[in-house]
Amino acid sequence: MIAAKARSEAAEVVGYTDPAGHPKMRKQLARRASDWGCLLTANDFVVTNGTSEALALALQVACPPDSAVLVESPTYYGILEIIQSRGLRVVELPTDPRTGVSPDDVAKAIRSLPNIGACLLVTNFSNPLGSELPEEKKKKLVSILADNEVPLIEDDIFGDLYRSGARRPITAKSFDKEGLVLLCSSISKTLAPGLRVGWISPGKFRDRILQLKTNQTLTCPTITQMAVAEFLEHGAYDAHLRKIRGFFSEQLQRFSSAIIRYFPQNTRISRPQGGFVLWIEFDPKLNTTKLAARAMNRHRISVAPRSIFSANGQNFLNCLRISCGYPWSAEIDEALKTIGRLAGAI
Ligand SMILES: Cc1ncc(COP(=O)(O)O)c(C=O)c1O
Repeated sequence: MIAAKARSEAAEVVGYTDPAGHPKMRKQLARRASDWGCLLTANDFVVTNGTSEALALALQVACPPDSAVLVESPTYYGILEIIQSRGLRVVELPTDPRTGVSPDDVAKAIRSLPNIGACLLVTNFSNPLGSELPEEKKKKLVSILADNEVPLIEDDIFGDLYRSGARRPITAKSFDKEGLVLLCSSISKTLAPGLRVGWISPGKFRDRILQLKTNQTLTCPTITQMAVAEFLEHGAYDAHLRKIRGFFSEQLQRFSSAIIRYFPQNTRISRPQGGFVLWIEFDPKLNTTKLAARAMNRHRISVAPRSIFSANGQNFLNCLRISCGYPWSAEIDEALKTIGRLAGAI
């Protein structure tokens, strides 16, 4: 794909492209936006280096210095790091494993805590819980945030990875009337994290985002955007998505069955309707930091312990995340058996 572009459009791929992103890439994003419940044009997007850069830019424009960011808990450790590296505070909200944060809790936090700069949520198949904010909750949340003029930074990186046969969940952005929702995503979970093609649809913050993006990195690489745009344009991406949705649904099923078989009896396991991570809750007395260290040191098995998913080191002591992205194999089956055995012995 990239090699073909380099040969066929050599002069264009070596040049700078528009700081907002290659027009062909933004046109494809605008075309796809209706799947997310949004009516957006190519000018409503800025192409970024993955979701990570989109989130960092969003925090920069949305949050005054020293303000706090409301997040679901547990949440993806990269999000916590990006927030804290900007000198902002993290406020963790209780999160239902199926339906995410409660809009009423968001309202309460805004009322009772000083200086809330933004709310940052992974609204569809969060990492690590796999929770999905139902439409009604998305609508209420956007309305509460708008009433309080607090921006929502929405990370939709897993939104296309719903289960085969289900419907693509819409975004909170689809309810945004004030331009206060900054929608961030990428192809990192669906196609290739290494290509670093992501985007932000920043609503009323567009001009400031574009200025920051231009000042900081000028633009994203041209060749990857052109190649991805072509992949999106001719239906190859949709065919690919259909294939990986089936793959991840099957993976979640296989990993879950093995965990039920091998892990101690009182272990609880999430049932995500999309994405590819499972959240495991052991007996309250089991410390998963110890378990993860033993799995790594003695058996070279890597699992993500709870501590990295919370800014507060005291939460989720008995939990861990298991990623189901690698194809099922006898080796993975054995690794899960080993973790189950170690957990039983701690
Ligand atoms: C919820 C979430 N947001 C953002 C990222 C980073 O995405 P990117 O590779 O597009 O920067 C990840 C990566 O795991 C993630 O899980």
